[in-house]
Order: sequence, then structure tokens, then C-alpha cells
Amino acid sequence: MTNPWEEIDLDDYEKHMSMESVYQLQAMNEMMREQFDAYDAEMVMILGIAGGNGLEHIDKDKFKSVYGVDINQSYLNECKRRYSVLGDVFKPICADLLDGAISLPCADLLIANLLIEYIGYECFQKVVRKVKPKYVSCIIQINTEASFVSDSPYLHVFDRLDEVHHQMEEESLIVCMNEVGYSKALMADRELPNGKKLVRIDFRE
Ligand SMILES: C[S@@+](CC[C@H](N)C(=O)[O-])C[C@H]1O[C@@H](n2cnc3c(N)ncnc32)[C@H](O)[C@@H]1O
Repeated sequence: MTNPWEEIDLDDYEKHMSMESVYQLQAMNEMMREQFDAYDAEMVMILGIAGGNGLEHIDKDKFKSVYGVDINQSYLNECKRRYSVLGDVFKPICADLLDGAISLPCADLLIANLLIEYIGYECFQKVVRKVKPKYVSCIIQINTEASFVSDSPYLHVFDRLDEVHHQMEEESLIVCMNEVGYSKALMADRELPNGKKLVRIDFRE
């Protein structure tokens, strides 16, 4: 069976995420600039990159390689088209992170924003072990309401996500990262308009 993310149209995803009542694309864009600036890193890997939100903040003088990983090839094609200015610095990798057999290049900084929700802690640990980053910066969504998808006209586009969704908790992510040798370096909350919040948690070796 296909992963539900292979069937979600990028335009529907981005329209939903950027609605005034959801505001996640905008919030994530600002948070990504901070993630890129925070550490001395030349190679960054962004897991679950979708349409490349935030890539406009990449400084080509700082980053030699920007790996964008996603299960959906059409999202990666769109990243390449939108951020053609990055040239060969942007390296798309189409891969299913749930597949234990995949190999991934190493990177200094690993970014996982709203991604661990769709692969779970154990699989994320395996990915971290493969990429061997110095720094890991994650954004997870904490719900204060029943549904993890905010109400919007696009809601039904996300119907199948229940099949792969894992609810995140700050403390569980910290324990998961401690188990693979990383300790918490930063934790910052960002409130959203719809009663949800994004939590950025960074780790270092
Ligand atoms: C909620 S979106 C987050 C996108 C982006 N990071 C953001 O913050 O807007 C999750 C992304 O992870 C990708 N994804 C989900 N499961 C995946 C998997 N098993 N392997 C690779 N990518 C996956 C989806 O295709 C999607 O682009």
C-alpha cells in the first residue's frame, strides 16, 4: 500500500498549512531561518522537505550541500524548480525513511520539522545513526485539541494520515535522542492561532 504522503497534492498541503487560522507554513519559515543560522554547519539535511518552505534562507556561502529528503518525488521536483538559484548545492533524495534498507549521506546538521510524527521515534533513531550529524534540530506539533490536523476546507485531503501518524511529546523525544547519544541543547515554543503549538527541540552530540 502507498504511503498517504505520496497521494497528497503539494498545493493542497501548502494552502492548508498557510491558512490564517493554521499559520504553520509561515511560522515554520521563520523558525527554519533560525535553525539554519544556529550552528556551524556546512552540510544540512532536511527530512520531509515537502515544497522546500524556508529554503530561501539558505546562505550559499555557508552551506556546501543541502540534502532534501522526501517520499514524494513531485514535492522534490517542485523544490528543485522553486529554488533553482541553489543549483547543485540542493541535492534531492527521494526515499521512504520507513524503509530500514535505505542509505543516506552524512550531514553536520539534521533538520526534522513535522516529520518524526510520520515515522515514529524508533525509525528516527535509525536515521540519526545513518546521517551521524553533530546537531539535530526538530520541530514537533503539540496538540491541545482532539485532532492533529487543523480544521480547514482541505481537511479531507489528510484523511489517510491517521494510518502513519504518531503523537509527539517533548519528553519522549528527548529520551529517544538521549538513547542515541544526543543531549538537549535548546527548547523553544511557538504558539499557533488554533490552540496548537510548535516546539523546536535541538540536540547535540
Ligand atoms: C507535515 S509535512 C512537513 C513538511 C515540512 N517539513 C514543513 O514543515 O512544512 C511531512 C513531510 O514528510 C514527508 N514524509 C512523510 N513520511 C515520510 C517518509 N516515510 N519518508 C520520507 N518522507 C516522508 C511528507 O511527504 C511531507 O513532505
